[in-house]
Amino acid sequence: MAKQSVLVVEDEELMRSILRRLLEDSGYQVFTADSSETALEVFSGNDIAVTLTDIKMAGMDGLQLLDRIKTKDPEAMVIIMTAYSSVDSAVAALRKGAYDYVTKPFVNEDLIQTIKNASLQRELFHENRALRRELNRQYSFTEIIGQSKSLQQIFAVVQKVADTNATVLIRGESGTGKELIARSIHFNSGRAAKPFLAVNCGALPGSLLESELFGHMKGSFTGAIADKKGLFRSASGGTLFLDEIGEMPLPLQVKLLRALQEHEVTPVGSSVPVKFDTRIIAATNKDLEAEVTENRFREDLFYRLNVIEILIAPLRERRDDIPLLVRHFAAKSARNQNAEEKNVANDAMSALVNCAWQGNVRELENAIERAFILSGDEIDLASLPPKVRSAGGHSYASLDAAGFRPTLEETERQYVMEIMAAVENDKTDAAKILGIDLSTLYRKLKRYEDI
Ligand SMILES: Nc1ncnc2c1ncn2[C@@H]1O[C@H](COP(=O)(O)OP(=O)(O)OP(=O)(O)O)[C@@H](O)[C@H]1O
Ligand SMILES: [Mg+2]
Repeated sequence: MAKQSVLVVEDEELMRSILRRLLEDSGYQVFTADSSETALEVFSGNDIAVTLTDIKMAGMDGLQLLDRIKTKDPEAMVIIMTAYSSVDSAVAALRKGAYDYVTKPFVNEDLIQTIKNASLQRELFHENRALRRELNRQYSFTEIIGQSKSLQQIFAVVQKVADTNATVLIRGESGTGKELIARSIHFNSGRAAKPFLAVNCGALPGSLLESELFGHMKGSFTGAIADKKGLFRSASGGTLFLDEIGEMPLPLQVKLLRALQEHEVTPVGSSVPVKFDTRIIAATNKDLEAEVTENRFREDLFYRLNVIEILIAPLRERRDDIPLLVRHFAAKSARNQNAEEKNVANDAMSALVNCAWQGNVRELENAIERAFILSGDEIDLASLPPKVRSAGGHSYASLDAAGFRPTLEETERQYVMEIMAAVENDKTDAAKILGIDLSTLYRKLKRYEDI
């Protein structure tokens, strides 16, 4: 296990070095500060288990420091050192949330015991929090639905890479489930009890994104009224999901690359790099190779991110997932609305299987939610959006709005999949309707998976 860190705040140099020696001998990693101001900096930049602070110091005193630390981290463990004569202020410190106090001169063993208790208490806090998170996870973790060969391959990769720290780049059109896959990597990993934080790199202007990611020091720009840790460090022990990575401005790409290489970030307004232990998953719907060619995305960063690549196929290329997804979303709508589950009519299902779904799974999910509300006892053709309905009517010749003409094989596949959906994947029934024998159907299905 890594050493616990103790921060010693003491303005007398001799006392500082005595404490350092004592604590180091007891197996702690020791940081020291000769003032509250310095202490705050050290505290924000490091994972401090216990802070041991003198109460009387020039400038900000120990009680004020306690306040500041508690605002930053309400669970921080602070022990106050006070002269025997000023026990009153020690009591004030306890009221302000100090863990305990020790009076000077102190007995070494007593001090060590107090620090030990404090760090144990802190671990308990953290374990508790992890348990709470685990509970949340059970409720918030969405199931990933799919039986297509391409999705099965993705599941296998997720299992394999989850417990490594490898950077993963998830690619796919909008609405294909990139964030869902990112979450499932996190929740299948040893990091599951720690945070999963997500940021959309396209949603913030460059300077804001920088301090969001890397943090900033108080006063480093107008509006920076307090120190900010930044997502890289807030997600420490967990996973940071960099969504729409293709939108990241070039100057920030340089900093991101450095962060990934050195495992440390330098907050805005600081010159002191700070280590982090955060797994990075990035996602994009852009053609990053093209962005590299156009000099809009750094090639070195691209290779750094692309250690493991997961490519999620558009829904129209894995239509065998559609019937499952439709039933999943219909059941979800029923739950959300406290209603009875509804059947999906055969013609509605074939229209759903045939639709082009430019918006992929998200669009399908919305369509089903809408249909669930609009329909009667059964989700029928009439309850589907017009675009989907028309895919059912004259399906084979007009695959999508772009006027794309499918090949004979694609048309055949579409027809076969439509029949499969209509008979709920019962291959014997499907073969009968199609007028082919079962082994031919198996062969065809196998081939479609490779298209
Ligand atoms: N295989 C799946 N099983 C169940 N739900 C899915 C699946 N794929 C996607 N979804 C659902 O579809 C919606 C869109 O997924 P998600 O937000 O992960 O897509 P995305 O690729 O990140 O999209 P965007 O590029 O637009 O951000 C979500 O509600 C998600 O739960
Ligand atoms: Mg997304």
